[in-house]
Amino acid sequence: MAKRKTKYVCQECGYESAKWMGKCPSCGNWNTFTEEVVTPAGSGAFRHSATSTTAAKPQSITAIHSEKEPRVTTNLPEFNRVLGGGIVPGSLVLVGGDPGIGKSTLLLQVSAQLAEKELPVLYISGEESARQTKLRADRLGVKADELYVLSETNLQDIVRHIEEIKPAFVVVDSIQTVYREEVTSAPGSVSQVRESTSELMRVAKTNGIPIFLVGHVTKEGAIAGPRLLEHMVDAVLYFEGERHHTFRILRSVKNRFGSTNEMGIFEMKEEGLREVTNPSEIFLEERSQGAAGSTVVASMEGTRPVLVEIQALISPTSFGNPRRMATGTDHNRVPLLMAVLEKRVGLMLQNQDAYVKVAGGMRLDEPAIDLAVAASIASSFKDKPTKPDDVLIGEVGLTGEVRRVSRIEQRVQEAAKLGFKRAIVPKKNLDGWTTPSGIKVVGVNSVSEALRIVLGED
Ligand code: TYD
Ligand code: MG
Repeated sequence: MAKRKTKYVCQECGYESAKWMGKCPSCGNWNTFTEEVVTPAGSGAFRHSATSTTAAKPQSITAIHSEKEPRVTTNLPEFNRVLGGGIVPGSLVLVGGDPGIGKSTLLLQVSAQLAEKELPVLYISGEESARQTKLRADRLGVKADELYVLSETNLQDIVRHIEEIKPAFVVVDSIQTVYREEVTSAPGSVSQVRESTSELMRVAKTNGIPIFLVGHVTKEGAIAGPRLLEHMVDAVLYFEGERHHTFRILRSVKNRFGSTNEMGIFEMKEEGLREVTNPSEIFLEERSQGAAGSTVVASMEGTRPVLVEIQALISPTSFGNPRRMATGTDHNRVPLLMAVLEKRVGLMLQNQDAYVKVAGGMRLDEPAIDLAVAASIASSFKDKPTKPDDVLIGEVGLTGEVRRVSRIEQRVQEAAKLGFKRAIVPKKNLDGWTTPSGIKVVGVNSVSEALRIVLGED
């Protein structure tokens, strides 16, 4: 038998080292190395499985059939859309999210729907007993004979059941609870998660069964354990939202079978997750019309425009350093836009605390929201409300210029649909499309020009 070897693996990023280290040279985290034993059997099995699935010869690309993959669709169009049009047979999909956000609920609902279509579904829970899963199913009103529940964490047993039942859909909740016997480290460690995932990948591909893995998220918001997990699977979905809000967003950050940055919006109800088909109305529902510091932006979420309120509160600093906080957007954007407002518009903001918030628990990261953030800040600072039926769209550059954004037509259309009367957009975006009726589109070149218009200082 070969000599047992050990290695030290960073539990945050998967970096491997022959010696223990205090600080990971790859991700910079402290005390993340744990010792893991490398057993030759484990690595051998891995190599074997990797080659056995690729019994292929090089083929001419024109000789390969490219019929559309038949996809399995659920009765949740939002879920289908995030996956790029349905579940692809043989795909391995990772669903990440904070504890308690509703991952198990979502996947159990999807499982039940498929089972009701007479497709056998296997729901494997390593976290809950079969009885607990049953209780949840009762709460969701699930009654499907074809839904099989298994409480198991041993991967060999899991694989045996999958290959026996040959279900049309499998859920493994969660990948961090599953372990392979030949890997000696604890469940949830990098080696275990990686080896288990690669085995499940093999099972999915060789049997053509779609497998959904639930993955826990660390404090920093990445899927716990290895980043490398994200490279192995076909698609990575994040289920997110604030715990105290009922809205949940399913977002795709990687998808080999569809576009990324698609998103589906759900609402957590007493009896499970319900789809939200008109998100803009929901996000604007509680808007404080006519209050200073509030503007609305039309932001793209994947291929869909969503209107969201952006709030800012500017108040004099009481302790030395002014505070700059952002919820729901990049926190570096706030100081940057404040510097632009100070230098290019002449607002004296350096002794002001600033709090910026994307309302409704949404997260917006695209630059097209800059203009709305800047306008909210200026509006709060001057204590002057903007018009409630204005919508602002545009990226702001460091010289105070308003820059072109993508998909302007769709954004303005969505605003018009929801009854907005005026859209402030980048002037460079004005050509090449027809403005929808009922909304006035105003092109601006600079932030100061935009602020003069929305704050009525013309
Ligand atoms: P869960 O799916 O267990 O979260 P995760 O698997 O991501 O950890 O969701 C748990 C939360 O959802 C829990 O706090 C209760 C709530 N919930 C509802 O509000 N309605 C429901 O029908 C269900 C099943 C759960
Ligand atoms: Mg769960």
